[in-house]
Amino acid sequence: MSRVMKLNTGQEMPILGLGTWHHGKEKGEMAKAMSFAIKNGYRHIDCAHIYLNETELGEEFDRIIGKDIQREELFIAGKLWSTHHEPERVEEGCRNSLKALNLDYFDLYYIHWPAAFEYGDGNLPKDENGRIRHIDVNPVDTWKAMEDLVKKGLVKAIGVCNFNTKQMKDIMANAETKPAVLQVESNPRMQNEILRKFCQKHDIAMIGFSSFGSPDLPWGEKLPHILIDPILTTIAEKHKRSTALCVLRWQIQRGVGVIPKSVLETELLENLKVFDMELDDDDMRQIETMDKNIRKIVPIVTLKDGTVELRDLHNKNNGFTFEETEADALNCA
Ligand SMILES: NC(=O)c1ccc[n+]([C@@H]2O[C@H](COP(=O)([O-])OP(=O)(O)OC[C@H]3O[C@@H](n4cnc5c(N)ncnc54)[C@H](OP(=O)(O)O)[C@@H]3O)[C@@H](O)[C@H]2O)c1
Repeated sequence: MSRVMKLNTGQEMPILGLGTWHHGKEKGEMAKAMSFAIKNGYRHIDCAHIYLNETELGEEFDRIIGKDIQREELFIAGKLWSTHHEPERVEEGCRNSLKALNLDYFDLYYIHWPAAFEYGDGNLPKDENGRIRHIDVNPVDTWKAMEDLVKKGLVKAIGVCNFNTKQMKDIMANAETKPAVLQVESNPRMQNEILRKFCQKHDIAMIGFSSFGSPDLPWGEKLPHILIDPILTTIAEKHKRSTALCVLRWQIQRGVGVIPKSVLETELLENLKVFDMELDDDDMRQIETMDKNIRKIVPIVTLKDGTVELRDLHNKNNGFTFEETEADALNCA
């Protein structure tokens, strides 16, 4: 089983990475976990402006890069936040993140969400009712400015998160380069099989985020914990491995990259064992039956009157309101 995914840019991206979106309150906890992870073999680190920890991760990169590890040994991804979608703001968004992270370049830089927000009033600019102030920016225009980042050497590859196939087809039809990577929620409950097939067909690597259904997420609908599902516990017992490892292994066997987040040393070491096991066809089929097409990562806002509403509900670039059949999705040259 290969430990890397070959991107359409020619780069090799480690198929197992470390997520860094951490909800704990203790400052430096994620940075400490990242250092431990790198020391123990993780080479792919998934960062983002909106995780609000780039500075602390940057201090850690500064401490270890060039000493404990060389920059070229790491594959570091960042994400453009929605307040910087206007083409003239994309470079500033990227440079701000690089500066905070103490890096000269990203191996991969994503558009984090397809919807754009007004610039100049923090990360989540809101109107008098508490709704996000969206602005109308065509994601293709943002993408073209992302292409310029590659030309300037600030990033080696570009990708998208939370885009649907229609939005990716728009990019493919109107820009010079197609996404190297799509990052999207994917786990046994929300498998995103159509997107997986679309990516496979178009040589776009897919990374599934929230492999375990983001159980520590402090907001959103409480859903049953994936890792205690009887289908998984049975498979885990059969292989004498944890249910977490069975989920990660299922993903990489179906060609999907994974970026589980943890701050616990035991879990960080545990997740590395994904390369020391193999699921059989029956296990793979069993996990496929768990798909319920239920998304956990759907950002919300609480309005002034206390109503909770989906953050991008009223925005035409919301990637989640688009329904597609497999035939439609795959019907593209
Ligand atoms: N692009 C996007 O829009 C987007 C959205 C969501 C996430 N992401 C990325 O994907 C990463 C992962 O997603 P996520 O953080 O939402 O959720 P996740 O990886 O599904 O879940 C993280 C949780 O799983 C626990 N965990 C990790 N390894 C485990 C193991 N071996 N056994 C049992 N539990 C384990 C962690 O524990 P601890 O309590 O020890 O930490 C943490 O509570 C993020 O950190 C972020 O980098 C991207």
